[in-house]
Amino acid sequence: MQVLISGGLGFIGSRIARSHSERGDSVRVLDNLLPQVHKNDDAADQARALGIEVIPGDVRSGSDWERALAGVEAVYHMAAETGTAQSMNDVARYCETNVTGTALLCEALERFPSVRSVFLPSSRAIYGEGAYRCAEHGIVYPQRRTLENMRARDFTLKCPHCGVVAAPIATPESARTHPASVYATTKLTQEFLLQQACERLDVRLRTARYQNVYGPGQSLNNPYTGVLAIFSRQISENAELDLYEDGHIVRDFVYIDDVVAATIALLQKPEDPGPLNFGSGVGTDLFGIVAAFETAFGRPVGHEVSGRYRFGDIRAACADTTRADAVLGPIARIDLAHGLRALVDWAQGALAT
Ligand code: UD1
Repeated sequence: MQVLISGGLGFIGSRIARSHSERGDSVRVLDNLLPQVHKNDDAADQARALGIEVIPGDVRSGSDWERALAGVEAVYHMAAETGTAQSMNDVARYCETNVTGTALLCEALERFPSVRSVFLPSSRAIYGEGAYRCAEHGIVYPQRRTLENMRARDFTLKCPHCGVVAAPIATPESARTHPASVYATTKLTQEFLLQQACERLDVRLRTARYQNVYGPGQSLNNPYTGVLAIFSRQISENAELDLYEDGHIVRDFVYIDDVVAATIALLQKPEDPGPLNFGSGVGTDLFGIVAAFETAFGRPVGHEVSGRYRFGDIRAACADTTRADAVLGPIARIDLAHGLRALVDWAQGALAT
């Protein structure tokens, strides 16, 4: 099978490329080697050494898609700008890469009928603050936090009916979508664009809503990389960690290998289960992350609760993985303690070279 992976030199895309290559598939990647991610790395050479065809190019270019799609049967559209905070003041670039890039893929699908399936990595971000429980009103969907709330250091989420502080619960795929950042808006738009194009052209579309994916291979130089990669680097350099807000930000961390295995399995499913949450179903706050790093490094980790915040961030994310687990079997096999150990070992080696 001929597979194309846009963003196939990136953190997740490169692992999908390698996995398909190991299965004996013919793999091509389209990647623009974004300097923010790939400064001084040899990702293209590593891919070529595995027999993967590398097309340097940009998803914002229709002609680059044309070059990349010849003879392709399956597309993993992994290329994206991914920083929630960065997206808020880099609006046009995020829309060009994530929205226009996907729109150009949609148009190209019509000219390349060999493409029979497309995978879209959507994001948990599309739910915004997600589902909460109010003691009086049950499951509720709070309004996002305003700049006024954040400036007043009020980071909590309130019941929209009574205004009392509500507690986060695992968010299912049926939750309402309510993007709180430009990044999230572009991800939801990608879902709509590909649903419409693939339905019209009878192309199989499979969509996963990724939670916070982490693990070896994550960019350590990109200032907008995921929080676990940022913290790994800072701990290695004996810098103090900066826990934003009041430290009680919660995320659902899911290990790279689990995500890659589930992604490839999902694209092969003949029945369409609709978009699925890919996460661990376990929420960990920033203090929990510090504790997990202390175990992984075997020493105390200096940290400060700075009260800093990023407008567009959501407070708590934890996936309801019931549907994904039923379709694919349990997705998250590697827990945070083991995954973090692997990330730390790899990061220490990578930073030493
Ligand atoms: C991440 C992904 C996004 C994915 C989403 C799914 C990255 C860069 N982004 O966004 O692609 O779709 O998960 O949920 O991986 N923080 C600190 N101190 C720091 C840095 C960050 O406290 O020094 C906090 C942030 O304010 C945030 C949390 O850590 O609340 C996680 O941030 P981050 O790793 O950037 O991820 P998300 O915004 O959740």
